[in-house]
Amino acid sequence: MTANNSTPENKFSQATLAVHGGELTHEQPHGAVVSPVFHTATFAFENFDQMRRYARGELTDAYFYSRYANPTVAEAERKIAELEGAETALVTSSGSAATFCALATVCQAGDEVIACDSIYGGTVKVLTKVFSHLGINTRFVSLDEIPNLAEIAGEHSRVFWFETPANPLNRIVDLDMVADVCRQAKLFSVVDNTFASPVLQRPIEHGIDAVMHSATKYLGGHSDLTAGALTGSKEFIERARQTSVMVGTTLDPAAAYLLSRGMKTVALRVRASCDNALALARALHKHPKVARVYYPGLEDDPGHALASRQMSGFGGVVAIDVVGGEPEVETLFNSLELVRTAPSLGGVETLASYPLYSSHAGFSDQQLEAAGVSAATVRFAVGIEAATDIIADITQALDKS
Ligand SMILES: Cc1ncc(COP(=O)(O)O)c(C=O)c1O
Repeated sequence: MTANNSTPENKFSQATLAVHGGELTHEQPHGAVVSPVFHTATFAFENFDQMRRYARGELTDAYFYSRYANPTVAEAERKIAELEGAETALVTSSGSAATFCALATVCQAGDEVIACDSIYGGTVKVLTKVFSHLGINTRFVSLDEIPNLAEIAGEHSRVFWFETPANPLNRIVDLDMVADVCRQAKLFSVVDNTFASPVLQRPIEHGIDAVMHSATKYLGGHSDLTAGALTGSKEFIERARQTSVMVGTTLDPAAAYLLSRGMKTVALRVRASCDNALALARALHKHPKVARVYYPGLEDDPGHALASRQMSGFGGVVAIDVVGGEPEVETLFNSLELVRTAPSLGGVETLASYPLYSSHAGFSDQQLEAAGVSAATVRFAVGIEAATDIIADITQALDKS
């Protein structure tokens, strides 16, 4: 925690770091317990010599221009780094921007990305519609192939990208195993930790090189901002920061303030959401209109043992296959009264989404099969309302489907 400008590592628990982490008392004038928002695009030099010394790299802590750095944004970065137990962090204008910066930093034309095929659909699109045009191709591997990465990787393979739990079916990947095989395969490992949040899982402690977040989700926590984050070593993050500064994927200070404010309650929110999700998953497991529940907190879920080992909770997302197909799903969605139909997750409110028409829209049948997404698949991003109300609403809607 950097409050009072000290950095005693691991002195405070994560819930305390969520509240106080990243704050600098000298940036909180008049004894304010909340940092001001530095709504400024640029920073004035005191004199010509200061400008010259900045340009020569002699004033490393000075602020220059908010696309490069801003104190409000820097506070959010320090808080995220402390929550993830990482050396440092970069925040960006969205999770997708963080994905872009990570990959553009590690790869150049001619290189290959290896990505798990169970990942957020938007990440697949960045890989296949942006990076492929820049001469960086992606090889997708199934979960079962991950232990063989050392054999799969070629001389141009640079990075392995994966998610756990993976969107939308909560498939679980073994972090220790990935760290091991990536070391053998000389691949830089990056995990999208959005579904777990640092409250449930800290991949760097397992040896993963870098962690990416859609901070739009649990870190922000209130569905009122779009942001992303990367955490990792100083060396990697400083290179990613150069990419971000040059392409302008910077987060605005107003959004950075909301992000820091949201993170103060992340430990409470994520625990409440996990409790609700487990209760919902158990209720849906018994429902006659539900063909299958995907939730690693259920004892019969294929990811249960691994999730119990590497996570301190099972997450706030519950996916199901509805008996029937799109017509039954349509009735379900149209019968929901409390739960809103919207993409995204990690907010305080429960949302229902249909991957076929949201995160996985436009995917080929083969890609859908690999991701396990069908016309029956529905995803609930469980919020922090009363579990009884969430369960009652989804159950009555399923009864009508
Ligand atoms: C797992 C995951 N990763 C990345 C993203 C992209 O984040 P953003 O929407 O903030 O760009 C999302 C968005 O839904 C997501 O669910």
